[in-house]
Amino acid sequence: MKTAFNTLNNRRVLLGVTGGIAAYKSAELTRRLQDQGADVRIVMTRSATEFITPLTMQALSRHPVHLDLLNPDTESVMGHIELARWADLILIAPASANFLARFASGHGDDLLTTVCLAAECPVAIAPAMNQAMWSKPATQDNQSILVHRGVHLLGPDSGLQACGEIGAGRLLDIDPLIERVSALFDTGKLQGRTVLITAGPTREAIDPVRFISNHSSGKQGYALAAAAADAGANVILVSGPTNLSPPERVEHVPVISAMQMHEAVQARVGDVDVFIGVAAVADYRPTLTQSQKIKKATHGKSTLTLELVENPDIIAEVAARKNKPFTVGFAAETEQLETFARKKLAQKNLDMIVANNVSNTDIGFNSDQNAITVYEQDDSLDLPMMSKRALSEKLIDRIAEHLRAKP
Ligand code: PMT
Repeated sequence: MKTAFNTLNNRRVLLGVTGGIAAYKSAELTRRLQDQGADVRIVMTRSATEFITPLTMQALSRHPVHLDLLNPDTESVMGHIELARWADLILIAPASANFLARFASGHGDDLLTTVCLAAECPVAIAPAMNQAMWSKPATQDNQSILVHRGVHLLGPDSGLQACGEIGAGRLLDIDPLIERVSALFDTGKLQGRTVLITAGPTREAIDPVRFISNHSSGKQGYALAAAAADAGANVILVSGPTNLSPPERVEHVPVISAMQMHEAVQARVGDVDVFIGVAAVADYRPTLTQSQKIKKATHGKSTLTLELVENPDIIAEVAARKNKPFTVGFAAETEQLETFARKKLAQKNLDMIVANNVSNTDIGFNSDQNAITVYEQDDSLDLPMMSKRALSEKLIDRIAEHLRAKP
């Protein structure tokens, strides 16, 4: 069962399995990590395969198991550098005495040690070995070298060992091990939360070849989606047409028109903790979409009148819900930023509005950077020009603070 706000949700865990009798527990560990929402890939040392088969681990993780450093087939699919970059955490469980020695001395002579050398993410080791091996000065020196270098030491536990002896050296039981691994991700941001974001423009069809739209590129909304996913949230990104690839680990729901965006949001907003409306939604759409291309008038008429009808206000409907999520709007303005933004904050019953000055072409629509002011009922925050991604991280921090403060 997933816990309500588990920190492992959406996390990528590279599980390294080394040779020792406790290797069989890595099968259960894989399942339990997945139950918490983690995506698990496996690297096994050759000696680990003597204790548990790669086939078992492949079936459980639902991905090929990585065994060799110099295998052209696996390297071309996901090589050691990609594996190291892919992971949010490398967890070696069980970690044998031999592995600790080779890791501590910086070896890179098999896949697992090489991935650890190439890692920029956190690395955790859960040792498991005979009590005499664990207490040997060489092993103690190796583990303290690794801890000194920032490797997280999880266990070992004390008790009856597989060899019949009693002492320190047992792999931590799965429950406390999962707890300790979860704690490594406890950054206090959006783990276990669901965030629904709208992004990009909408297109309102006039006829089969023409539409009304705006200059939104989707960059700000996609950057927020990536930042929210990195903060551990489940992210649903309902996006109008853009040229961007959806960020990884984000559920992407492509739409075209405001009516489609409205429908996509209504269908998903029931269970979300946060709603962020970054989309530049068209306020109006043509009352009638012509089924054939409108022809230019041939004689006399130099004007064409298009009748428009109002689109639903997506964010206002979200904010009017009984159990409304924490609701954040964006306001692109060319003048009187604070006045207009605060008006929208109040009229739409939002918890926060992000005012975006779009009179300057360096920020706002289609730029890679932005500068904003966040308005809340009793507070405001200026965020000077920076990349849309950096801004998004600051916004996510601010939203997370509000969620934490909520009763
Ligand atoms: O996509 P980029 O190129 O990166 O540009 C980003 C951006 C400038 C589009 C973005 O930062 C931004 O400011 N988006 C809001 C655009 C806007 O002007 O919204 P608005 O003032 O029309 O609407 C206010 C809020 O209501 C917004 O959260 C909007 O998503 C929402 N809204 C509006 C109309 C409508 N029918 N439904 C809505 O949900």
